[in-house]
Amino acid sequence: MQSDPSQSPTPLLADTVIRNIGQLVTIAQQPIDEASGPLQVLENAVVAVHDGKIVWIGREHDQEHEFQQDEETRSDSITIIDAQGAVITPGFVDSHTHLLFAGSRAAEFHLRRQGVSYSELLAQGRGILATVQATREASSDTLTQLALQRLNTLRDYGTTTVEIKTGYGLDVTTEETCLRLINGLSAHEAVAQGLQGLEKVRVVPTFLGAHTIPPEYRDRRSAYIDVLTEKMLPSFVGLARFCDVFCEEGAFTLEESRRILTRAKELGYQLKLHADQLSASGGARLAAELGATSADHLDFASDEDLDAMRDSGVVATLLPGCSYTLRSPYPSARRFIDRGLHVALATDCNPGTSYCENMQAIIGLAMSAMHMSLEEALLATTINGARALGLQDTIGSIEVGKRCELALWSINDYQEIGYHFGTNLVRSVLVES
Ligand code: NIG
Ligand code: FE
Repeated sequence: MQSDPSQSPTPLLADTVIRNIGQLVTIAQQPIDEASGPLQVLENAVVAVHDGKIVWIGREHDQEHEFQQDEETRSDSITIIDAQGAVITPGFVDSHTHLLFAGSRAAEFHLRRQGVSYSELLAQGRGILATVQATREASSDTLTQLALQRLNTLRDYGTTTVEIKTGYGLDVTTEETCLRLINGLSAHEAVAQGLQGLEKVRVVPTFLGAHTIPPEYRDRRSAYIDVLTEKMLPSFVGLARFCDVFCEEGAFTLEESRRILTRAKELGYQLKLHADQLSASGGARLAAELGATSADHLDFASDEDLDAMRDSGVVATLLPGCSYTLRSPYPSARRFIDRGLHVALATDCNPGTSYCENMQAIIGLAMSAMHMSLEEALLATTINGARALGLQDTIGSIEVGKRCELALWSINDYQEIGYHFGTNLVRSVLVES
């Protein structure tokens, strides 16, 4: 067949082209291929990127575009990345972590093995308060180094976006320092490692001053809530995208949580809750009432709570690392999915209930202990993680217009994920900026 020159496509601007992708697991929200199921898997795929955004996706053999560099900004030729037939997925979006902390609670972990409960430890002034003490005593440099090690690890396991909460400062100065350190982590890491463009991690900061009542306010809890609502929240506007509250007996009551989150909402924060983790705290219902972006944990949420969350568009974030660590029953993901909620999975990386940076391990736990399919677990760790951060239009799937934040795997078939366990199957992440 003769090609008609007047019909030939105009070359597309691209600075990077990723070729020879054996399986591109796009998680596309718009079907790209009727046959490829909910994950939308494209074989022998090519992805072209310009200025950090995906501009073209297609198959190697039906490639219809030529790519050209932007004349004005051209410095080099187009960078070609050869995926060598491997699988590419969106980078994981880990939408719930507390990874900026100092100290270790390994001893508590082993005490819990002997029957001491998480709530008992918290009531004894250990638990979260032990980490608060260690974090207050640590220098900014130490905190940053510790967080960078954890960021490096989670990136090596395929995460490209991570939410990080404060909540181990619990005074105005330390909470502010922690928020500033969290904000600095993205750029800091890239510079520290001499990385240019590739392999950065996107960091989303959350203010969790309402993690527990600090010791100096133990008998004056409403005075601490005044500090939260009148000092911390107003002065941290712009430093945190989300405000989160641990709504639980031993932390903040339902009424206290409502007060803090209502103030945060007035000030323009988006909302998250640690809800119904250890008991039926009413947190899920409050998340629905206030239009929170996500409610997390949810082990004790009732069916009615879940319906209210679904009707208000609140993402349900499940954290199987906590069930593993606390040896508590795993929440049944089927209950959430069958009721039509968007379910996200996250590590909850923290020193008390889930010391884990690895989203592949979370997928494994969700599939084996929470009865999720691989498809559901992959959606939950990519696009639904993005939804839990309000970033579903920017990241979480491989589609034209989205940021190029990808995981390049060392496997040729995505069905190895969750099956081949205990081994890191991610070769690297590809983040174009
Ligand atoms: O998500 N539940 C509250 N916060 C964390 C645990 C924090 C800690 O124990 O240090 C969680 O489980
Ligand atoms: Fe948490």
